[in-house]
Amino acid sequence: MDEGTKIMQPLWWLGHSLKVIDQTRLPGEETYLELHDLASVIAAIKQLRIRGAPTIGVAAAYGIVLGAREISSHSREEFQKGLDQIGQAMTGARPTAKNLFGAVDRMLQVKCNASEPAQIYKLLEEEATKIHAEEITATERLSRYGADLIGEGATILTHCNAGPLATTGYGTALGIIFAAQKQGKKVKVLACETRPLLQGARLTTWELRRGGVPVTLITDSMAGYFLHAGIVSCVLVGADRITANGDTANKIGTYSLAVLARENGVPFYVAAPTTTIDHSLSDGGAINIEQRAPEEVTHCQGIAIAPPGTPALNPAFDVTPHRYVSALITEKGVIREPDTDRLRALNI
Ligand code: MRU
Repeated sequence: MDEGTKIMQPLWWLGHSLKVIDQTRLPGEETYLELHDLASVIAAIKQLRIRGAPTIGVAAAYGIVLGAREISSHSREEFQKGLDQIGQAMTGARPTAKNLFGAVDRMLQVKCNASEPAQIYKLLEEEATKIHAEEITATERLSRYGADLIGEGATILTHCNAGPLATTGYGTALGIIFAAQKQGKKVKVLACETRPLLQGARLTTWELRRGGVPVTLITDSMAGYFLHAGIVSCVLVGADRITANGDTANKIGTYSLAVLARENGVPFYVAAPTTTIDHSLSDGGAINIEQRAPEEVTHCQGIAIAPPGTPALNPAFDVTPHRYVSALITEKGVIREPDTDRLRALNI
């Protein structure tokens, strides 16, 4: 934890294991888990104990280091085969966050540059540490760029959780809010609760309150009321995957916010490191949207809120077409009204 800012990091590499804060237990309990093997890292990602696209990517990289230690063969060929299987298992954890796939690809590239399993293992650890450090630096940079878009006295509406817990480092959407506050601007936040798993109510309010940013919680369905009332200066969210044209997958409910923002003349900003951008997909129609268990909708914190047997649907993300995005804020700069050419021009 950073004592000065009270920013809580989501994970720590201990050299032989990965220590994580269990994000499903917040804000009630600060519980830490020590993960010693690949299977427990994958399970923690699936169960959202580790969550948020950049944090998932960093955890996946360390998970591969732990998995590599479990490969018993010392032949280079067998070791490489084992690593490919580990990569495949890791990408099966969650389908939408680009950072997971990017981190796994980077980790699997490492094996091509080494001849001995012991050497590969050392290089894997170095690469995971590098991925982690790069994500921290990216959040720091994009937070500074984004803060310049936030006016004195702004009321910022955010959805889900795009703070340090979701990203490592400073956060994307919340990093920008912390940076604006550091610039001396008196900002305040309206946080959508984010049904069904309440990342906004549980995590965003927790992080902002620790950081001394005034935050008010609203239910997701109140957002239109406040946007129409003219009290919201901008909507600012993170992203899980951004396609080559700027279409953005983020937590379910984000698309509705973008349309409401446009209807009410409020800027809609997306903040993400470039590791979230997927150049292999031309537009958001091709993004694989995670479908989670119906019980997450029929139950709230373990309590049934619908008659037994009620069918429920649970897409975890939606896609906001790029025409609704006023600006994309990355560590390489701000792209206003992003499209394929503007993303290409920034060389990201
Ligand atoms: O399902 P989650 O909690 O992993 O989803 C995370 C999000 O969708 C967040 O909105 C976030 O902005 C993306 S990560 C910074």
